[in-house]
This record gives sequence, C-alpha cells and structure tokens, in this order.
Amino acid sequence: MTVRVLSTRKELPGTGVDRLGAVAEVVTWPGIAKPTPADLAALAPGVTGILALGNDPVDAALMDAAGPSLRVIALASMGFDNVDRAAAAERGIVVTHTPGVLAETTADLTFALILAARRRLGAAVSRLSQGGWDVFRMEDYLGLDVHGATLGLVGYGQIGRAVARRAQGFGMRVIHHDPYAGDDSVSTAVDLDTLLAEADVVSLHVPLTPETRHLISHRELATMKPTATLVSTARGGVVDEEALLKAVQEGTLHSAGLDVYEREPMGEELSPLVAEPYIVTLPHIGSATESTRAAMTDLAVDNILDVLGDRPARTPLPGTSGTPGRVDA
Ligand code: DGY
Repeated sequence: MTVRVLSTRKELPGTGVDRLGAVAEVVTWPGIAKPTPADLAALAPGVTGILALGNDPVDAALMDAAGPSLRVIALASMGFDNVDRAAAAERGIVVTHTPGVLAETTADLTFALILAARRRLGAAVSRLSQGGWDVFRMEDYLGLDVHGATLGLVGYGQIGRAVARRAQGFGMRVIHHDPYAGDDSVSTAVDLDTLLAEADVVSLHVPLTPETRHLISHRELATMKPTATLVSTARGGVVDEEALLKAVQEGTLHSAGLDVYEREPMGEELSPLVAEPYIVTLPHIGSATESTRAAMTDLAVDNILDVLGDRPARTPLPGTSGTPGRVDA
C-alpha cells in the first residue's frame, strides 16, 4: 500500500520532494498563503509523514486528524516552537528539524543585521532611494563602530559559534551566555546580566521555549548600554517587542536588527517596529540562500525517508524521540 505524506507547501527547493514522490504519495497544500490549521487537518487523514516549515502550526489536533498512521513530522527548519512536542511524544511520533545545514548562512545574515543597525544602513538606503541625497554632511547617518566592539551571544550553539568566528575578523571581543557551553578560544562564558551590561551588540541564538519567551524584556533592555544594539535571528517571542520599541524610541537602547517577530508573516498590518528608523527589519530571511534552503528541504525529506525505511531519523529533535541532549538554535 502506498504511504501518504503531507507537504505544507507545493513548491520547495532541492530534490527532496521528487525523491519523496518516488516512494510515497505526496499530498500538498495547494494554496500560496500559509495554510491554517483547518486547511492542514483536512488533508491529513491517513498520512504517515508531515513535511512542514518552521512556522506552520503542527498541534495535537493536526496529529489527531492524521490519526495513528502518523509516524514522523519533519520540519524544514532549525526552529521547532511551532510543534507541540509533548503531543508528538505522547503519540510516539518522531519530530525532526534541520541542524547542521543553516548555521553559516544564518550567521552571515546576523552580521548583516549587526552592520545595518549600527551603521544606520536602512535609513541611508531609504533616503537615497527617495531622492533625498542633496548634500554631503559630516553629521549624516552617524552610526557606531562594529570593529573593536564587544559582542554578546545569548545562546552559543551552531549559529552563535558561527557568528563568533565572524566577529574575530572585526577584532571584536566575544562573550556568551549558554548553560551548555563554557569558554573556548573565541569566546568567554559569562552570566546573562554581565553579558547584557558589557556587550555593545547582543545577538540572540536560543530556541523559543517557555523558558526563553520574553527572555529580553524591560529589565534586560535597561541593563544594556544606551549605545548597544540588539539583534535577533532566533524567534520573535524571545524578545518583548513592546519593551524593545519603547527602549529604542526613548533612546535607552541605540538600535536593533530583527529578522523575526512575534507575529509572522505581517502582510499589510505592519508592526510598529518596521517604521522605527533605528530598527532594521527583515522578513525572516536568515537561512534564505538557494543552497541552504535546498539543503534544509533535502534534510527534512531524508528524515522522512529514514522513518519510512524503519531507520532512525538522522536529525531528530531531542525530547520527542528519546534522543537526549541540548537543542540548538
Ligand atoms: C529556522 O530554520 O528555524 C529558520 O528560522 C526558518 O524557519
């Protein structure tokens, strides 16, 4: 009997979906917009696998709509906060994600945000493109240096370490806070408050979990230097966005660079963060290069093929499949 796998998107890069199609019937959400939970539930009955992106809701209701045939949920993302891991564990469903293939690409974008926010690139690009470059003034677009600054990494997993390596080229001092990672030759481990107080750039690299929701809120922002920049390529919920907007607007924080938001996508209902000149905002493109997005899809499919072939999945999410250990961001 042919097994069925639900893909939450009809167009995915890489060769993975073709390989999947050779061994399974791929049932695809046909829409262009992000599917609702009801859209996915309608397609789910009887599927053995679900191939989803990092912001598709995969909850207990979807698992129940699929029924007892469901064996694997494969995310084409490193982040996994969209999956009800407890519900998957209760039902014996393997959940996989995509570590190992996107850290360098996301670290590149993290550095782009650091540079853009501190050197005020968003304001400069937008004034130039609106025909507003009338005269060269010494006081225009004055930013803050990146070279020689202190970089504080909250979370020192694959992406945090890749950002730290890039910081060496800028002559930055690097410190990090991560319960699982001590000092190494690149970075010194410190507690969170020391990191917030000493860093000129604070960059977030933790997954969104109940423990990290609003990890950066009023108190943490007040601990940062008024000349500091907050950067996040992690998940929107890690930062209290109202507190961040207030801190930047009141000048108690210099700037921010964000790729992720509490509400994604935004459509036409833009977050007030987008209009703030000292906040650079991007539409969740941290891993968006052709090769990396293809590698993410391919790895997600390989995980499904592993489970369909009765092999252990190659990158299961710890805690959902009996695999111990830390979860990277
Ligand atoms: C990830 O891999 O978690 C990226 O944010 C894309 O979802």
